[in-house]
Amino acid sequence: MPRLNVGSGGGAGEHPKPRKYLFILGFVAFLGLFVVVDYLRASSDTKYDIENDTSGIRQSFEIGDGGIVENHDEKIIELNATYADLYEDGDPLVWEEMPPCPVGRLDGYSTQIGNLFYVFAGYGTIDHVHSHVDIFNLNNNKWERRIDMPREMAHSHLGMVNDGRYVYIITGQYGPQCRPSIARSFVLDTITLEWLDFPSLPVSRYAPPTTIWRGRLHVMGGSKEDRHEPSLQHWSIAVKDGRALEDEWRNELPIPRGGPHRACLVAHDKLYIIGGQEGDFMAKLKSPIYRCVRRHEIVYGDVYMLEEPGADWKQLPPMPKPNSHIETAWVMVNNSIIIVGGTTAPHPQTNKMNLIGEVFRFKLDTYEWSVLGRLPYRVKTTLAAFWDGYLYFSSGQRDKGPLDPSPKLVVGNTFRTKIHI
Ligand SMILES: *[C@@H]1O[C@H](CO)[C@@H](O)[C@H](O)[C@H]1NC(C)=O
Ligand SMILES: *[C@@H]1O[C@H](CO)[C@@H](O)[C@H](O)[C@H]1NC(C)=O
Ligand SMILES: *[C@@H]1O[C@H](CO)[C@@H](O)[C@H](O)[C@H]1NC(C)=O
Repeated sequence: MPRLNVGSGGGAGEHPKPRKYLFILGFVAFLGLFVVVDYLRASSDTKYDIENDTSGIRQSFEIGDGGIVENHDEKIIELNATYADLYEDGDPLVWEEMPPCPVGRLDGYSTQIGNLFYVFAGYGTIDHVHSHVDIFNLNNNKWERRIDMPREMAHSHLGMVNDGRYVYIITGQYGPQCRPSIARSFVLDTITLEWLDFPSLPVSRYAPPTTIWRGRLHVMGGSKEDRHEPSLQHWSIAVKDGRALEDEWRNELPIPRGGPHRACLVAHDKLYIIGGQEGDFMAKLKSPIYRCVRRHEIVYGDVYMLEEPGADWKQLPPMPKPNSHIETAWVMVNNSIIIVGGTTAPHPQTNKMNLIGEVFRFKLDTYEWSVLGRLPYRVKTTLAAFWDGYLYFSSGQRDKGPLDPSPKLVVGNTFRTKIHI
């Protein structure tokens, strides 16, 4: 069994104290014991209240250069296979560091058109969101350009897809913390770098799986307006050259399981949705800044497929472990879907968010999953691209260090590795 260092340690310094303080010290020690007992009780209680816990967001928002974070934790606990790293021995992937993105991003979104990799929006810190796009040229590995987003466009939890020229940006959260989502949608013309208007979704959603299939833009699932409740609704609208060909979104067959932060793509004319979660952080009641509060979430590795519009959804073999926060962390290579990092189920003892440090492969001819290798660190909401034999990933929120898979630094770091599959 792999062992991980988690929990908090840090004893008091050893300074001699005058006799009259001994009583106070004794009292403090008693209190300390009480806290430890209480902690153990809370950890083993399955109904552990996490609604007042922002771990994974508040504790962790620091901008960093992604260096190894020193681990001061002392409590050793055992992890079962769901929570542990699956890839332990050796590492077939050799990573080469590229110039970092000009800003760090959590919940950023990306899309690739040829050799250009467009990286949108995202949180810099929990109180600051980006409203620009950085463009990376995969031919010379340089961040070459930055363009501003429209003032009215959402900043995270978007739906995003491109058709080879136009990038469709559907709904999403407007502003930092856990602010409301907006239904407003836009299109970026990547030739002229102009922004076009696009019909708003019938209602706003957070991070709905989005793709284009047989001439129609499909948007489904995500979280509802409260940011937490999973939605099953599914709409489509005919599109061509960056414009909607219809005035109204069409209702489609609902999806079997709702929720945000899932990979969604079309391959060989079939539509796939992979991973995701039910539930998410939501705004604290009456908080004027919509402060994020953690709620119960269920991360899953389910895979669903549609073979024909209007047909029943088919369920395919699930991912090797539950995985969420992967909406733009995938690429298609040689008839396989490659997925980079993500988050798995919260840690069973500490309930902390648990990041993933592996690269997964899903073969579309046999529907088999495998683990290709390990990342330089565990990371969620990372942004993936593939060019000239190289798998790239950039940005996201990384782990505390090799021994602690909970989230810490928001980074812009960019890496690539040669793959052969
Ligand atoms: C957490 O709960 C405590 C006690 O109920 C309360 O005082 C505090 O404001 C809460 N914090 C957040 C961030 O909700
Ligand atoms: C790990 O533990 C969790 C929670 O107890 C359980 O749901 C899961 O099935 C376990 N995974 C494995 C691979 O044993
Ligand atoms: C994809 O398949 C082709 C044909 O087998 C092969 O030449 C190429 O190297 C493969 N690409 C990758 C990235 O594995």
